[in-house]
Formats: sequence, structure tokens, C-alpha cells
Amino acid sequence: MNYTETAQWLKDRLPSVPQIGIILGTGLSGMADNLDDKFIIPYSEIPGFMKSTAPSHSGNLVYGLLRGVPVLFLQGRFHYYEGYRMEQVVFPVRVMAKMGIKTLIVTNASGSLKKHLEPGAIVRIDDHINFMGTNPLIGVNDDTLGERFPSMNKLYDPFFATMVNDIAAIENITIQEGVYLAVTGPSLETKAECAFMANMGADLVGMSTVPEVITARHCGMKVLAFSIVTNYSNLFHDLAHSQDEIRHHAGISGANLKRLLEVFIQRIS
Ligand code: HPA
Repeated sequence: MNYTETAQWLKDRLPSVPQIGIILGTGLSGMADNLDDKFIIPYSEIPGFMKSTAPSHSGNLVYGLLRGVPVLFLQGRFHYYEGYRMEQVVFPVRVMAKMGIKTLIVTNASGSLKKHLEPGAIVRIDDHINFMGTNPLIGVNDDTLGERFPSMNKLYDPFFATMVNDIAAIENITIQEGVYLAVTGPSLETKAECAFMANMGADLVGMSTVPEVITARHCGMKVLAFSIVTNYSNLFHDLAHSQDEIRHHAGISGANLKRLLEVFIQRIS
């Protein structure tokens, strides 16, 4: 089944067309917990979807009303390191675009390349470096989705960024900004690689998001993306935090990010 058919399959089953799509990264599945009129479809039941194999990714599509706004959560994503082809990794984004969703919010967990971005930090991604050695748009271009050579200028929507900064100030939530660099994984980075990445201008390193964001731009969607720092990268091994400490930070940050996004969604709807 292709993404157009899957989009139609979902539209036939959901109560309304969602306004916003949200991809939930590692440890953030709980964001979809308190929605009204919730409608959960396991990926295994959706024609064309793959099974999610990554740990702590639950593999559900969750529709619901968030403060009255119809939204579509993807609880769990497909990573390149799991062995999927790029077109499979970005399939859900194309499905959302074909459903008529115009705004995509992406979240992930990352390692920090900068000392000031401590484990637990909420970082608004303001640009990225594609270091995966491939690109989700390689292959025949589907002109019904977008153009052959899409611009990556102001990829992370500047209007959304300003709005999110305002909300964070009002809600008393500390957020920072940074450049996210994507690697394929699954091996973690060496110390030399981390030093190289930090020197190239990256602040965070992770194994996702970039393919989805490139695809969303190709489809003409507006993008907002957040990363929660779960660990210092190999660059700072002397600063390693305990797993308990990291879980503690990630829990608080997850709750704050959830609150921030709820206000954001309400405001843009
Ligand atoms: N490196 C790559 N991906 C990650 C990391 C990391 O340190 N932490 C969370 N995702």
C-alpha cells in the first residue's frame, strides 16, 4: 500500500482530519495520554506501516482532541538503524501530508555535544546537519508531494520558534536552542567523532528526526522540533550522569515539554 492509500484508509476511520501531527521520541510516549475522544490504532493494523522495534517506542497512532484541537500522535518512529529503507522511515510523514496535515511537531532524545546543554535540557532544534550519508528524497520525485530540489532555508519555522519562546517565558519553562546532527547509529559516537561534530557546529547528536523533517519540508509542512538531552556525548565522559539522574531529568523535562506543546497547539489552532 502506498502513502496516499494509507492516508485515505486513516481518513475513513478517524472522526476528523487532524490539524497537527506529532512524532513522539524515546521516553515521550506519555504525551498522548490525556486526549479527549481518543482513538488508538496500533501500527500493526495500519496498511503500509512497519512494526516499530526500538526500545520504549510503543508503536501506536493516537488520534484525539488536545484542548479541543484534533491532533495525531505517532507513538514511536522508525529508525534507519533498525534496517528500514529511508522511504519506510519517512512513510508516516508522507501519510500525514496526504491526510492534509500542515504542521508537524517532532520530538527526540539526544546526546549533548556542548557542556551547557545538560542532561534533562529541553532544546528547540533551530537547524540541523544531515550526517546520515543518505537522504530520504533520493529516488524518483513524487511531484504530487513536492519539488525535486526543495529549499532547506528556515526549515524550522521561525514564527513557531518565536511563539514557543514566548510561551516558555510565560509558563516559566527553560528551553534552549541548538543544532541537531543526525547519524545513522546504532553505535554511539567516538570521542573524536564528537569533537569533530561539535567543531562542525553541532550542539546535539541523535539518530532520527532529520529524515522526517526533510520529508515534511518537501511536502510543504511547517516544522517545530524539540530534543530532550538524555546524556552527555562521549566528549564529556568525565561528566557522566547516573541512569537514575537522567531518568529523573527526562521525566521532569517531558512534563514541561508536554505543557509547552499543549499551549502552543491551542494557540496556533
Ligand atoms: N548519541 C546518539 N544518539 C543519541 C544519544 C547519543 O549520545 N543519546 C540519545 N540518542
